[in-house]
Amino acid sequence: MSNPTIGVIMNGATGRMGYRQHLVRSILAIREQGGVLLSDGTRVQVEPLLVGRNEATLREIAERHGLEHWTTDLDAALADDRWSIYSDFLVTKARVPAITKAIAAGKHIYTEKPTAESYADAVEIARLADARGIKHGVVHDKLYLPGLRKLKRLIDSGFFGRILSVRGEFGYWVFEGDWQDAQRPSWNYRKQDGGGIIVDMFPHWNYVLENLFGRVESVYAQAVTHIPARVDERGEGYDATADDAAYAVFQLEGGITAQLNSSWAVRVDRPELLEFQVDGTLGSAVVGLFGAKVQPRVATPRPTWNPDLPDTHDYSGDWQELPTNEVFENGFKTQWEDFLRYVVGDGEHPYDFWAGARGLQLAEEGLRSSETGRRIDLTAPDSGSPVILPHDLTTAGA
Ligand SMILES: NC(=O)c1ccc[n+]([C@@H]2O[C@H](COP(=O)([O-])OP(=O)(O)OC[C@H]3O[C@@H](n4cnc5c(N)ncnc54)[C@H](O)[C@@H]3O)[C@@H](O)[C@H]2O)c1
Repeated sequence: MSNPTIGVIMNGATGRMGYRQHLVRSILAIREQGGVLLSDGTRVQVEPLLVGRNEATLREIAERHGLEHWTTDLDAALADDRWSIYSDFLVTKARVPAITKAIAAGKHIYTEKPTAESYADAVEIARLADARGIKHGVVHDKLYLPGLRKLKRLIDSGFFGRILSVRGEFGYWVFEGDWQDAQRPSWNYRKQDGGGIIVDMFPHWNYVLENLFGRVESVYAQAVTHIPARVDERGEGYDATADDAAYAVFQLEGGITAQLNSSWAVRVDRPELLEFQVDGTLGSAVVGLFGAKVQPRVATPRPTWNPDLPDTHDYSGDWQELPTNEVFENGFKTQWEDFLRYVVGDGEHPYDFWAGARGLQLAEEGLRSSETGRRIDLTAPDSGSPVILPHDLTTAGA
């Protein structure tokens, strides 16, 4: 007997994330392994329906991967009972209208972040989704990275003692598009098209910080557009109206200070494009996307400050690499499997639209902090309910 199948609408499957991470590395990989393994030992298979605006591209992708279903008609897909999940990898500004339709159609929804362009809209779709009684999830891919899974293991083991601070470096040089093509889509650099590194990265930082260390209580950020003019995919110049770097300090519950730099205008001198250093009373760790190294209290060297003499101590040699100890699969695929299990009633998936909304709140308040030059306090959420700031009460209709 073949496994039961769950139909998944994949809107934006032709895009960078939609195609590579969600179609090829997640849904197709799950199909190839015979479906998602459930806790009772059975499997549920997945059947994708590719949705996009360009018929030729959709047909080409479907043929390349031997897929039967594709369409440019989202409304027809949403009206069809064969598809119970709607997933969204569109450019951010196209997301809310599509998700609103999918909620009305009663589909369960899994989406890329950010869930909306504004906190008010993110809260609104979370409310609508709850009212419709559908299950909803938002990509939290960084939590599934091997390096961050190792970090979680360290935190859970009590390795750090009292955690004091977190420092993060994320970034790399994104070419301007003139003498070498840019390696990110041009809309990322136009505010009017939903671009900007704060809107892109602060939703990630929010879920990383709140799930590993504690809720974000305040933010101070400085957003900068270092490269004001770029060249797009068609070779045409445009004004880069969005921030391409953000320098931020977050105060976390429990008194932890997190300081994160995000930049598309920085040249890399570290082993990985994302790296966190966590310092605690009993030990410290440096983790990347994959690697993790530690320095416990008992193995801490005693540096002395003497600028008159060259320092010959090999500080990197004082760290010990952590073993991997388990197989970490692609994080997008692992989260898809968690969400699919949750949809069929087998397990939890806490990363919902409310978590997405908190990410948007942090992004919005980060931008407000940058505009006003002030540190912004974020109000504490009631258990499980969304964070609503006083100034949002009028706009979010709370
Ligand atoms: N989780 C992550 O690490 C991560 C990384 C990068 C991007 N993202 C998010 O993924 C989403 C897609 O980003 P991307 O880099 O793949 O972009 P992309 O430009 O490569 O793909 C966007 C998709 O949206 C479609 N599209 C564009 N304009 C549209 C419109 N007006 N109406 C309907 N469809 C439209 C395009 O055809 C394409 O399929 C964004 O929301 C982005 O924030 C997440």
